[in-house]
Amino acid sequence: MRVLRVGGGRPLSGAVAVHGAKNSVLPILAAAILAGGVSVIHNCPALTDVDAAVAILRHLGCRVQREGETVTVDSSALTRMDIPDALMREMRSSVIFLGAILARCGQAELSFPGGCELGPRPIDLHLSALRSMGAEIDAACGGIRCRGRLHGAELSLSLPSVGATENIMLAACAADGVTVISNAAREPEIVDLQNFLRTLGADIDGAGTSTVTIRGGAPLHGGEHTVIADRIVGATYLAAAAATGGHVALEGLDRRWLLPVLDAFRQAGCTVSGGEKRVELRCDRPLTGVRPIRTAPYPGFPTDAQPMVMAAFCGGRGTAVFVENIFENRYRQAAELARMGADIRVEGRVAVVCGVPRLHAARLEAADLRGGAALVVAALAAEGESQIAGLRHIDRGYARLEEDLSSLGADIRRVDVDTDTGTERQRETL
Ligand code: UD1
Repeated sequence: MRVLRVGGGRPLSGAVAVHGAKNSVLPILAAAILAGGVSVIHNCPALTDVDAAVAILRHLGCRVQREGETVTVDSSALTRMDIPDALMREMRSSVIFLGAILARCGQAELSFPGGCELGPRPIDLHLSALRSMGAEIDAACGGIRCRGRLHGAELSLSLPSVGATENIMLAACAADGVTVISNAAREPEIVDLQNFLRTLGADIDGAGTSTVTIRGGAPLHGGEHTVIADRIVGATYLAAAAATGGHVALEGLDRRWLLPVLDAFRQAGCTVSGGEKRVELRCDRPLTGVRPIRTAPYPGFPTDAQPMVMAAFCGGRGTAVFVENIFENRYRQAAELARMGADIRVEGRVAVVCGVPRLHAARLEAADLRGGAALVVAALAAEGESQIAGLRHIDRGYARLEEDLSSLGADIRRVDVDTDTGTERQRETL
């Protein structure tokens, strides 16, 4: 079994470049299907979710090459318009391929993404938008079949779903006429997708605001794009700096993308600064209590940062109340953090964290991606050496976790342990 061994108690210090954003690269790889030519995408992190997206592209008949962090996708000869169940299960967000395949092929066949670790993950907004654009959709027995020539439509989302906004943007590029999305998601990754689609020749604007307009039918071709930095990875390293009383600078990340996270740490006594390409956090004393942290769609506090920020507050000197408004099952890290001595009470959407003077090392298991990252943050702050299993979750979203944290002075390494004896095998993989 492969685990992370984390020796706690060292303040993190230094600067680190944040890798490309998982939530940008996935829709951008799906969008490459639209090009019907060669797209070159830089700053694609080595994540297992990216492996899954590449496997889907290859299954569809794309030629895909990966060289370092550059992925080249040639989508000129698409041969299929379906995604098999096994590939859908590898990555729930593969539903983002629906709009792209439909736009390119006039039909698409996927299995239902269903629930995930975070709770039910419906796609009703995706499907009703595509229906309004003229798609005939047969969603039964776990499968989704879509077909039809798409036309532009005025669409108002009942909530600003990231995935639905992206699916509509992709489908609308090939639709006849103009599509307007109201109450669109405003995440930086939506802007990144728009920028990539523009390099393909798409006529689209408004991303980053609540109204996105796509004038469909523009001739598309291959393009070249560099994916933005991952703000959630950035938030993880800031949380680790805050938890350990450290001083960390993140290179390549826009401070404005993390304002609610920075605000929480500032309230808790940290010094934060930065600009368009840099974010810095210094923490000289234990974190104090803060006003309630409520997750919300961008530009609100990101649900994806909630577990790691919660972990940072476990060893603080005050109370932090979290209200999770996006996903039902997003406190799975709490029980594991409690094994380290954290005082967390969860009731429905609310979690109350009362800081304790010290966390102690424990054997832990990640239950989901960001919950796993939260365990790493807590382990970095705890006394003694913790062991974290369930790395397949963490590897979905962190390409260089041990390398980056080690470069900041952390004691963290990935090792194989014998499951029967718990002893470390010789080969270290760092
Ligand atoms: C994206 C991110 C994920 C992040 C989430 C919220 C990617 C690959 N993933 O996920 O990391 O946690 O945004 O910031 O970008 N909903 C519906 N019906 C729908 C669609 C969504 O009810 O048709 C609900 C969901 O259940 C959830 C909320 O809307 O409660 C937000 O979901 P959404 O913004 O769609 O998240 P994802 O795109 O799945």
